[in-house]
Amino acid sequence: MKLIIGGSTGFVATELLSQALRNPAITSIIALGRREATLPADADSNAAKAKLKSIICDNFEEYPDSVKSELENADACIWTIAVTPMKLSTVPWEETCKISRDYATTAIKTIHKLRQNKEKSLRFIHMSGHFAPRSRAEIPAGETETLILDYAEQSQGAVQSCIVKPGLIDAPGAEKREIPGLPHIDLPDIAAALLHQVIRGFEKDTLSNDDLVRIGQRALAE
Ligand SMILES: NC(=O)c1ccc[n+]([C@@H]2O[C@H](COP(=O)([O-])OP(=O)(O)OC[C@H]3O[C@@H](n4cnc5c(N)ncnc54)[C@H](OP(=O)(O)O)[C@@H]3O)[C@@H](O)[C@H]2O)c1
Repeated sequence: MKLIIGGSTGFVATELLSQALRNPAITSIIALGRREATLPADADSNAAKAKLKSIICDNFEEYPDSVKSELENADACIWTIAVTPMKLSTVPWEETCKISRDYATTAIKTIHKLRQNKEKSLRFIHMSGHFAPRSRAEIPAGETETLILDYAEQSQGAVQSCIVKPGLIDAPGAEKREIPGLPHIDLPDIAAALLHQVIRGFEKDTLSNDDLVRIGQRALAE
């Protein structure tokens, strides 16, 4: 399986890279970001050389041809680029919409158009958040969820999309933050759940924090 990880330098993406490198079902990883992806500390460098390609992109609204050629014929994509809630107050609204909504919708369209394989669907996961309402509302996350699900629905089976809505993601060993009403999930669990779903197929089109904990822990136990 050829997997694209969008936003490959981030907190979740770094754990995804580490687990994907160790997973034999994933044979090729395109780490797409505005900066070079750093190899996870525990990565076997020979496995990484064989499987991983870090692609730097300076335009997520219109990919340069050199980037497009690396995105050809992907089987799946896990999209993690967004203005995270902690940074919302520091980024202007227009910019937030562009980064959190338009980059994701451009990605799903572009990666779909760059596929030759008409037999199997492209699997696209969009990372959203527990509290994101599925409407335009005050943040673009909810609107993006609808656009990503609609794109798959209109693709006549060529694309399957899945929205994941985790609560707070806890790094191993780090102090737990608390936000009233927000559930928690451990970083290894969410990464395992995302990889399980792109490899085995989506259980449903929207996965809650509880779903992700259950799928991730089962996948890690296996
Ligand atoms: N962390 C949590 O507790 C949590 C909880 C619920 C949902 N989520 C969601 O999960 C997803 C991943 O979260 P995360 O914690 O891994 O986020 P993160 O560490 O902030 O990583 C975000 C990624 O997006 C990239 N990015 C941000 N702005 C960009 C821009 N203008 N152009 C290109 N790339 C840009 C970052 O690149 P740079 O490294 O270059 O900045 C990084 O690769 C997000 O959608 C987030 O909202 C996270």
